[in-house]
Amino acid sequence: MMKIQIVNGPNLNLLGKREPSVYGNGCFEDYLKVLRSRFPEVEIDFFQSNVEGELINKLHEVGFSADGIVLNAGAYTHTSVALHDAIRAIQTPVVEVHISNVHAREEFRHKSLISSACKGVILGFGLDSYRLAIEALLELKR
Ligand code: DQA
Repeated sequence: MMKIQIVNGPNLNLLGKREPSVYGNGCFEDYLKVLRSRFPEVEIDFFQSNVEGELINKLHEVGFSADGIVLNAGAYTHTSVALHDAIRAIQTPVVEVHISNVHAREEFRHKSLISSACKGVILGFGLDSYRLAIEALLELKR
């Protein structure tokens, strides 16, 4: 069975409550059920942390065994050299995702420090960005 790890970074635990006009009304746990029923042949594991080092530890933990990682690093996308290095250090391909179209928002969101270390980037499709990222990871294995 294919194994995909979803990793969500800071403030994404508040999805559904946080700026719904930007991030929508749904909580991630509900969306996870949708994803799992959409991909019954895939084991989808989920981890969220507001702590940069915990995100790095999770990448290290799964990054030599999982088939793919879907990473929404939240605001650490725009600040974290350490996450960039962690993505480079592991073997599992990482797809960077964002719920919002960061390029249509404040200028400080236009720069990602992690994109160049990732296999690819999907952004701006709401929660559906995660599904698209999983499709892309599955395609890599076909
Ligand atoms: C985000 C975009 C980031 O700029 C922001 O800091 C987030 C969420 C997104 O999914 O759209 O926390 O990664």
